[in-house]
Amino acid sequence: MTRTLVTSALPYANGDIHIGHLVEYLMTDIYVRALRAAGEDVIYMCASDSHGTPIEVNARKKGVTPEEMVAEYNRRHLEDFSGFQIAFDRFYTTHSDETRHHAERIFTRLTEAGLIYKKDVEQYYCEEDRRFLPDRFVKGACPRCGAEDQYGDSCEKCGATYDPTDLKNSFCVLCQKAPTRRSSVHYFVDLEKARPEIAAWVAKDGHLHPEMRNWLEVNFLKNELRPWDISRDAPYFGFKIPGETDKYFYVWLDAPVGYIGTTQKYCDEKALDFSAWWEKDADCRVVHVIGKDITYFHTLFWPAMLHAGGYTLPSRVQIHGFLTVNGEKMSKSRGTSITARTYLKHLDPQFLRFYYASKLGPGPDDLDLNLEELVLRVNAELVNKLANLASRSVALLSKRLEGKTGALDPGAAELLAAARAKVPELVAHYRAFEFARAVRELCAIAEVANKYLQDAEPFKLVAADPERAREILSAALAFVKGLAILIGPVLPDFQARCERMFQAPRPWTFADADFTLAPTTLTPFERLVDRVEPAAVAAMVEDTRSQFAPPPGPGDRVPAFKDTIEIDDFGKLDLRVATVLTAKKVEGSDKLLQVTVDLGREKRNIFAGIAAHVDPAWLTGRQVVVLANLKPRKMRFGVSEGMILAAEDVDGKLSPLGPGLDLFPGATIS
Ligand code: 2FM
Ligand code: ZN
Repeated sequence: MTRTLVTSALPYANGDIHIGHLVEYLMTDIYVRALRAAGEDVIYMCASDSHGTPIEVNARKKGVTPEEMVAEYNRRHLEDFSGFQIAFDRFYTTHSDETRHHAERIFTRLTEAGLIYKKDVEQYYCEEDRRFLPDRFVKGACPRCGAEDQYGDSCEKCGATYDPTDLKNSFCVLCQKAPTRRSSVHYFVDLEKARPEIAAWVAKDGHLHPEMRNWLEVNFLKNELRPWDISRDAPYFGFKIPGETDKYFYVWLDAPVGYIGTTQKYCDEKALDFSAWWEKDADCRVVHVIGKDITYFHTLFWPAMLHAGGYTLPSRVQIHGFLTVNGEKMSKSRGTSITARTYLKHLDPQFLRFYYASKLGPGPDDLDLNLEELVLRVNAELVNKLANLASRSVALLSKRLEGKTGALDPGAAELLAAARAKVPELVAHYRAFEFARAVRELCAIAEVANKYLQDAEPFKLVAADPERAREILSAALAFVKGLAILIGPVLPDFQARCERMFQAPRPWTFADADFTLAPTTLTPFERLVDRVEPAAVAAMVEDTRSQFAPPPGPGDRVPAFKDTIEIDDFGKLDLRVATVLTAKKVEGSDKLLQVTVDLGREKRNIFAGIAAHVDPAWLTGRQVVVLANLKPRKMRFGVSEGMILAAEDVDGKLSPLGPGLDLFPGATIS
């Protein structure tokens, strides 16, 4: 039996899964389910990609450890994936002993093979945050068009790509200060030395879609392969490089090793033989499904790492394109940056599984999710063709014929035989990631079956000739069963419900998709899938939009900042710490407190407009900040010899300011 290990790219444990990610996980899940239905020994491995600067920085911002953040996202991701019936055999984490072990093994073997060397690298460094700044942590003005606030590697306005050092007025995204430059020793993989293995892997038929193979050959293999920088300096969340104290493997060194580490964990837990999957020359096909943005990691670095480490090389790297929604990049303001959880709040996961499958092929083309088309296609094909065939025939059989099927209508034999003849081709489509074709073929068969049912009119016959109606319905149900099995990889729920209705003694496989049906008793009809309501789609979009709209809150009411001043302007204010000696309400005024303060050199009398906010007893004995050189002001109740500083929030609440620590009165403030 062929053994196949399938993976999807490991999602960063740094944010929620969205419908863009789902293209890949659904595509992989459909493939895995199809191989399994075809009788293969197949496992689906995935994990949280747990390392790197963004995870370390975000965990710190949230006030949790990176381990805690990874654990939380690992849990959320698994919940989202289960919601879409994406069934990994193991979903682990790269921050594991298993992945560390295999990453170190690869590093050691690369070193022994003479592929690792060290070199000084100068990079941006933030003195404030005391860290080197990766490209995404430096911003500035684009050197070509001058657009402000662009990242260190490319300009979103004009599309220019450049070195972070070319940015104008660069600043650290964490603290906004200008970075300096600092040099440090980095570890490199000399990829050029691994060229023969890489080139041979890329060239071999079947490993890549021809378009991607060509892209790699033209853009990379024709030129000298640039060395790969695999180390990062502390602070970093990752695995320490053996023998180093403050250097770590770059996240992309250990991320794909997570495929191996997860398999190791899976095998250890199940007492299975790990070497059957990953050891060199193992009788196993490894298939990675990835997006085209991470092609070179998987097709240049990865084969070189696996080769040096003595592991199985992939049999295929299956590359898909990006998702657009309604023809555009996903957008928060348009409400199309839809997370998996938001989708599941509004819509049945089967809709998206069916829709993506109906549009996916083996090439790297981008895929557009057109929300109107989703409604039309799901309702016209999944509901009207596939589900209705089942509901009409099961309902009638259950209601009028005790749910019992019998001999099949001989008049349908040819149609059923034609459907049966298509099975090998359909299975081949799944194996080749030709899901759109598989769905098309299945809908065509469903159309034939619906027409047969329509023309044979069992609804009219059932009263006068129930046995004839039973024959017809039995033939229709032979179609239903065959179709449910063949669409099963795309719609596991649909299949599971049909299995229950047909009382299948065990889960169906493709071998059962012979478009026959032995006499059986059906259980009452279960709804297979509901129609998509356009209103639910609109609600999902609105929900997404509102999640990203800035929260209406007090922040919006904070007054605008005043004009810039010179430091000398500030220097004119003589601000002092003062101790409140007495405080009392002023008779005839709701607003004023009369306060006497000790300013070290002298005592003063001040009228402060804080009576509505501060209890005089509370204020007495406290230290406050006084503007000491404010011209004395004559008031109705006496002369005010200074001003007590207070903060005012958006609701008009006042709070007197004081020093953080008790100080000698008269202390200066600058
Ligand atoms: O691009 C990404 O989202 C990465 N986390 C994918 C890693 S795939 C594998 F190499 F781990
Ligand atoms: Zn900084």
